[in-house]
Amino acid sequence: MLKLATRTGRAKPSAIMVIADKAKQLKAEGKDVVNFSIGVPNFLPGDHVYQAVRDWMPRDSGGYGSNRGAPALLDAIVAHFKQSGLPGYTRNNVTVGIGAKQVLYNLCEALLDEGDEIVFPAPYWTSYVDIAEILGAKVTILQCPPEQNYKLTPAQLDKALASNPKVFLFNNPSNPTGMVYTKDEIAALADVLVKHPSTWIIADDIYNRLVFDGIGYHNVVQFRPELRERTFIMDSLSKTYGMPGWRVGFVAGPEAGVKALVTLNSNHITCLPEIITEAAIAALNGPQDVPAAKREDFSRRRDVVVGALESIPGVHCPRPQGAFYAFPDIAVAFGRSHNGKLIENDIDFCKALLDEKFVATVPGSAFGEPRSLRISYTCAPEQLQKGLDRIKQFFAELSDAEAPRARVAGA
Ligand SMILES: Cc1ncc(COP(=O)(O)O)c(C=O)c1O
Repeated sequence: MLKLATRTGRAKPSAIMVIADKAKQLKAEGKDVVNFSIGVPNFLPGDHVYQAVRDWMPRDSGGYGSNRGAPALLDAIVAHFKQSGLPGYTRNNVTVGIGAKQVLYNLCEALLDEGDEIVFPAPYWTSYVDIAEILGAKVTILQCPPEQNYKLTPAQLDKALASNPKVFLFNNPSNPTGMVYTKDEIAALADVLVKHPSTWIIADDIYNRLVFDGIGYHNVVQFRPELRERTFIMDSLSKTYGMPGWRVGFVAGPEAGVKALVTLNSNHITCLPEIITEAAIAALNGPQDVPAAKREDFSRRRDVVVGALESIPGVHCPRPQGAFYAFPDIAVAFGRSHNGKLIENDIDFCKALLDEKFVATVPGSAFGEPRSLRISYTCAPEQLQKGLDRIKQFFAELSDAEAPRARVAGA
């Protein structure tokens, strides 16, 4: 029998999409579903983005473009990094991809040989594991539980880098927790990183414009500039500009490394389409009021979500300071039952919550933290309160499981 390549067996369907599909199916059956499962911003880009597309259409060549990215887009990206507090990059330091996901795939392909080690903290974005495994890399996960606010400590990092992993991958602000590292925390991690010069650094900073409470966005290269020669900083239009389907990601990094990414682009994607390039330039260079307004909106929603979750006895939600996710610790529900259904873990919990209350959330185990679940709070405002009320009701209806399961003595 003809066999597919082994790597295809290592790629798993996204746990997030499985829940989202079930939610869609329930909705199609007429159920009043509240969807907290998908990490999409619920807003569209500013009018100037659409206008740029309309203006460009009569001039569109329909041809291939640069593998690195059109010069005007590269300039807009360089300016964007500068505005984010990362000056000093030039066109030679940046390139584009079909979303940050493809940029990350390129980066992993460029940096990791089969068997090489990649290290990252958990909770993590699901694709980190999948991409590394497709490429046959060895994944080492650094567990950062709710007790440490899901944040990596310098001591944990130092210990993990002692084995000289090829790549350290770091996401700030975080999907799924919404945690944002403070200036001092980033500076402390940067001090550790300089001590381990044989490890590449990938900073997945795609939520960097969605930071609340005035704590600001920081990156390790700002504190230890010597890290620039081995740090790649990923960004994207998806979340901050309301453009996930437009598929524009980009990266800044050392020239030789970025050149390797351009070569991979020439083999994987060739280029971004011209129309999309124009939209991206307009988003980056145009008025920034849409992302700014969304930051305000999401920080208000964060207060509502955390307030509701913290009012549930036994539930703790480390306070997110960015992105649009909350990641409460729901372990208090484990071993209890709802409508006769025993909830043994996060997966049982999310299934029961969807089946009984029609609220879709994602089990924390999809992100490497089985004590928690992810709530993406970008839905319509009236849906938000409804979903939170239903979650509270679900917890209130939990009862202690009828009979404890038999345990083997001494096991
Ligand atoms: C942490 C993180 N990195 C990267 C991505 C990929 O984003 P893009 O839409 O630009 O591919 C996502 C999308 O959910 C994400 O949450």
